[in-house]
Amino acid sequence: MANTNIEINEEKIKHENVFSLPIVQYQTTNTDKLNKELKEIILKKENELPTTNKSNQGGWQSEGDFFRWGGESVETIYNLFSKLIETSTKKLNFVENIPMDFHIYGWANVNRKGHSNIAHIHPMSTWSGTYYVDAGDDMDESKCGLFEAFNPNLSHLTSFFPGLLPGEHFIKPKTGLMNLFPSYVRHGVRTYYGENPRICIAINASMKIKAP
Ligand SMILES: [Fe+2]
Repeated sequence: MANTNIEINEEKIKHENVFSLPIVQYQTTNTDKLNKELKEIILKKENELPTTNKSNQGGWQSEGDFFRWGGESVETIYNLFSKLIETSTKKLNFVENIPMDFHIYGWANVNRKGHSNIAHIHPMSTWSGTYYVDAGDDMDESKCGLFEAFNPNLSHLTSFFPGLLPGEHFIKPKTGLMNLFPSYVRHGVRTYYGENPRICIAINASMKIKAP
């Protein structure tokens, strides 16, 4: 007969979630004027320059020289990303603090009706992120062109409650919203069905160890 004095006290069980994945979101405020200026600048460039061909299925992507376009609004976006990257990196609670900074480059994107971005990663970077200058039309989640990030933990997907724990994480684009995620996370953008263009700025940030 089992000893009833030896049993699990549920309140004393220590549950930890380790090796977690940082997904950062920040909704900016007071950015109406900034977004109007950026929209004008980006749509003008879209008119003047051909698209690059990376992850976009339709739509327009600039070269990765966005932060060299110049002007106050471009500088503001750079500063916002710098701060978000710095703060989000601090939150990672490293086992050792080493002096570092980031090389950030960005590009502009315009997706119109029927456009999407196939799933991809950003190799050779540390953080990747997006700022929505104009999320376009506010539509149902099946039509709004959701940003989707895929769970990189394949062991989890194949054998640890597959189908019961999420394999994808969705973010609904909103004007003025910033997001940031590790560059190794595979992600894409579902088809956008709005009439107005979806305009965003994407970035890559590579960590550099600062010389002493
Ligand atoms: Fe991307």
